[in-house]
Amino acid sequence: VAERTLVLVKPDGVRRGLSGEILRRVEAKGYTLRAVRLMDATPELLAAHYAEHEGKPFYQPLVDFMLSGPVLAVVAEGNNVIAGFRSLAGATDPTVAAPGTIRGDLGRDWGLKVVQNLVHGSDSTESAAREIGLWFPELV
Ligand code: CMP
Repeated sequence: VAERTLVLVKPDGVRRGLSGEILRRVEAKGYTLRAVRLMDATPELLAAHYAEHEGKPFYQPLVDFMLSGPVLAVVAEGNNVIAGFRSLAGATDPTVAAPGTIRGDLGRDWGLKVVQNLVHGSDSTESAAREIGLWFPELV
């Protein structure tokens, strides 16, 4: 099924100059970039985006990290792109993410309170619709 997903290149990815490499992998896999915007997140946007993590010990470090620099927000499109991008991204923890994945090839443990893992990808059709609405309100 044709789908859209929200991809974020998190501040660590932008800071390290990996935005192009990450977009290259999404396009090389065959997905279409529907929207791309370099932007600064806001506390309000992140509170909505990460509502499911509120109250967890890494919540505030996560929000602070996401506010530490610009984020590249992307809408990618293609059949099964939600699962496909999560496969490209690899496991949450870059230490154990498989080589060949974005996190496995480009990420590592930096010894910080929050896992810096370069990218976010929506985890379901419901999350994708919700998250695209948050980051690209003009697209909905
Ligand atoms: P992501 O899955 O994109 O969204 C939630 C983020 O919180 C996750 O990436 C990591 O960056 C971070 N995270 C998740 N679990 C932990 C954890 N146990 N400790 C620290 N950070 C975490």
